[in-house]
Amino acid sequence: MSKNENDDESPMMSFKLLNIAGRARRGQLQLPHSIVETPVFMPVGTQGTMKGVLPEQLLEMDCRILLCNTYHLGHRPGHNLVKKAGGIHKMMNWPRSILTDSGGFQMVSLSKLMTVDEEGVNFESPHTGEMMLLSPEQSIHIQQCLGADIMMQLDHVIHVLTTGPIVREAMGRSIRWLDRCNAAHTRDDQTLFPIVQGGLDMDMRKECVEEMAKRAKVGIAIGGLSGGEEKSAFWRVVATCCEALPPHLPRYVMGVGHPIDLVICSLLGADMFDCVYPTRTARFGTALVRRGGELRLNQNKYANDFTPIDDKCTCETCQNYTRAFIHAISQKETVACHLISMHNIKHQLDLMRDVQKAIASGDAQEFLKTFLEEQYLGTS
Ligand code: GUN
Ligand code: ZN
Repeated sequence: MSKNENDDESPMMSFKLLNIAGRARRGQLQLPHSIVETPVFMPVGTQGTMKGVLPEQLLEMDCRILLCNTYHLGHRPGHNLVKKAGGIHKMMNWPRSILTDSGGFQMVSLSKLMTVDEEGVNFESPHTGEMMLLSPEQSIHIQQCLGADIMMQLDHVIHVLTTGPIVREAMGRSIRWLDRCNAAHTRDDQTLFPIVQGGLDMDMRKECVEEMAKRAKVGIAIGGLSGGEEKSAFWRVVATCCEALPPHLPRYVMGVGHPIDLVICSLLGADMFDCVYPTRTARFGTALVRRGGELRLNQNKYANDFTPIDDKCTCETCQNYTRAFIHAISQKETVACHLISMHNIKHQLDLMRDVQKAIASGDAQEFLKTFLEEQYLGTS
């Protein structure tokens, strides 16, 4: 499958479809710092580090791409410092690919005092308290200083359950902001992904897909989801957008990462995902498992359980530690968090590798059936 005909990016970046099974796709995304096999889950490193996991350990798990947030890095250590350090890959000691989000979404989730107008997002800095403007141009400037393989456009994100004229306004503004991001984007070793908005309105989503796809080069994202809407509504948006999108663009569903959503959305035709869920839930002592879904290791029933979290898992934690040990240290947050985070990230990466295998061998339906039975009928 050839890449976008009107692609003016460097040949360092391309997407190749390897198998199609129904709506599901297996592919290879070539980026400057690694080849990414899709469908892929991207772990999230917020402040330029993963919470509880080192880059060496992610390499060991054969993770190919991480997500970092512009918003956090733009403040601490600051994008100028990252640039001075030689870019984010060097600063983090991560030799493979990185995707940076544009910052708009974090502002919505972090700042109470935030307003949006055509110029950009105005917000109060949580560090200094002063008012700052994040414009599309400034977001690209910051992301170019960081130097990730994939940059995200600044978009106007609204809560997914918002209705009325603001949904269309935010969608239109996101299209105009993409054009401004594109104009500001000058580095040819980075690519810029548009973000499809449009709330839960299928006609608006299709309209937005058409405008964004025209402007997309290597890939495209579906945003504005995973904010408390019904699963059925969320899946319908993903299905509708994937159906309307041209096949040559990998489709990144932003902020999605519960195992069930990774499986369903992959089967609906999505290719990339990110979520803090595996590391966040680890901090609360919860391990992800195929059989039964979640293991709450601080529960007393694990005090005498000398088996690993998952006896089929090949992660460092499962090779060397028991549920009883992790339960015993679960109050000592950092070590337990580290051990569970390692396992949870490996769990997500392995799940996606199994999804890829199922798509390659044409067994996607069978895979879904087994996955659902294990998650909802199994106990660990
Ligand atoms: N992360 C999760 N959802 C979104 C979104 O809609 N836009 C951006 N920029 N980041 C996100
Ligand atoms: Zn494990």
